[in-house]
Amino acid sequence: MNDTKPVVEVKSIRKTYVMGKTEVHALRGVDLTINQGELIAIMGTSGSGKSTLMNIIGGLDYPTSGSYFLDGIEVNKLGKNALADIRNQKIGFVFQGFNLLARTSAAENVELPLLYDRTHKIKNYRKAAIDSLTLVGLGDRTDHHPNELSGGQQQRVAIARALVTNPSLILADEPTGNLDSRTTVEVMQLFQELNEKGITIILVTHEDEVSRYAKRIVELRDGQIIKDVVRKPDSAIDDLKRLIKRQAIERDESELTV
Ligand SMILES: Nc1ncnc2c1ncn2[C@@H]1O[C@H](COP(=O)(O)OP(=O)(O)OP(=O)(O)O)[C@@H](O)[C@H]1O
Ligand SMILES: [Mg+2]
Repeated sequence: MNDTKPVVEVKSIRKTYVMGKTEVHALRGVDLTINQGELIAIMGTSGSGKSTLMNIIGGLDYPTSGSYFLDGIEVNKLGKNALADIRNQKIGFVFQGFNLLARTSAAENVELPLLYDRTHKIKNYRKAAIDSLTLVGLGDRTDHHPNELSGGQQQRVAIARALVTNPSLILADEPTGNLDSRTTVEVMQLFQELNEKGITIILVTHEDEVSRYAKRIVELRDGQIIKDVVRKPDSAIDDLKRLIKRQAIERDESELTV
């Protein structure tokens, strides 16, 4: 496997929003190359341009200037339909609020991106959905509706939905923003496990508690990259084991004092 193949190549990207007479310079010249197999956290304070950058990388928005290549394809030269196809086939999205359909089962939620896949490369939707749910540890929850699942499980369903088309890239904007600290570590453990399998993951977060599990941290300030470091990530599975042990001890102690 060639680990150095660029999945994302962002070159001199600017994004300016025009609001009446004022201009908001959300991105002011961003260069970023992300290779296959990376697990990267994009950080920065509120308003620094994280979501704007993610929306461009995700093909949800066009830059004002500069160029963007995804898997070697120049995305900002594509029309709306071609862009929608690229998005569907190459990118899996995970959002802070899970964005699951309430009245449908976990399996049906996961099948959804396949309905929009005009290449029809996957024939058996249900099997693909169940395989994807099994991969995120929810093989026994396929018929549950979102309100019958915990927050962490709902985010796992969303991750299964992102994975079902075998995308080149997972984009997650504040994926743990609605989760408690234990569930956050569980979701980060899943991302690390998926990344071990070779899936490229870009996540946006403003929490050090989340970014410490990434292999690379990029920090934005006022629409520019001010930091880009490659590092040895903490192990979420080790942290999880420690957390479980500590919670078991605390439980035993509270039972003894009853
Ligand atoms: N659709 C829009 N129209 C006008 N201005 C926008 C729009 N979207 C974002 N902005 C502005 O661009 C800047 C960057 O916004 P962005 O949403 O990328 O920040 P962020 O880093 O994701 O912040 P947060 O941590 O709060 O989510 C902000 O000043 C914001 O007000
Ligand atoms: Mg944001």
